[in-house]
Amino acid sequence: MKLVKASLEPPSGLKMLLEQLGTTGENGFMGTGQPANTDTLASYLQSLMDMDNGANLRPEWVPMTTYWLLDNEEQIVGVSRLRHQLTLALLNDGGHIGYYVLRSQRRKGYGNTILRLTLVEARKLGIQRALLTVESDNIPSIHIAEANGGQLEDERLDEDGVLYRRYWIDLG
Ligand SMILES: CC(C)(COP(=O)(O)OP(=O)(O)OC[C@H]1O[C@@H](n2cnc3c(N)ncnc32)[C@H](O)[C@@H]1OP(=O)(O)O)[C@@H](O)C(=O)NCCC(=O)NCCS
Repeated sequence: MKLVKASLEPPSGLKMLLEQLGTTGENGFMGTGQPANTDTLASYLQSLMDMDNGANLRPEWVPMTTYWLLDNEEQIVGVSRLRHQLTLALLNDGGHIGYYVLRSQRRKGYGNTILRLTLVEARKLGIQRALLTVESDNIPSIHIAEANGGQLEDERLDEDGVLYRRYWIDLG
């Protein structure tokens, strides 16, 4: 397994992953605004490069790096996103890191792996404490946050009345 920074060269399986994100209602995971259904793959990849470099950011957005988790056959099994800093909005809901594992690849430990490896990248960026926000009924993600050292700060209600937990992971 390896975690690679997104590039203009798509890994095998990326199109399928994006289609899945666009059709399963998990498209907005971590509020990332995945443009899977509307953009060409090339412009989507370019938008990832831009977000990484802080170019053409939407108002109130901060730079964000996308990573791909590849298996030993270089096939994509998951994606994560690392926001380089928190805004007031992200501090409340969104946090530093979001992750997604292909449906067909779940329950194999990849969720745990993708967060563990993304935290290594967060530390490299100088983030001392990483915030994760997880819906309170997302049992797999709660396991993942806690297995990676997440300390529960509190539980809040979002504007739609959905309960979510805020976990901090110390990287110091
Ligand atoms: C959350 C998600 C990344 C988990 O991916 P995964 O590869 O299945 O996770 P893992 O295989 O590493 O499993 C993580 C833990 O959850 C548990 N788990 C996984 N699926 C589960 C389920 N359906 N019910 C209960 N527990 C489950 C596993 O047993 C494991 O627990 P353990 O480490 O204590 O043994 C995946 O379901 C997903 O992409 N969901 C949609 C996006 C999302 O919710 N992202 C997180 C938002 S904060």
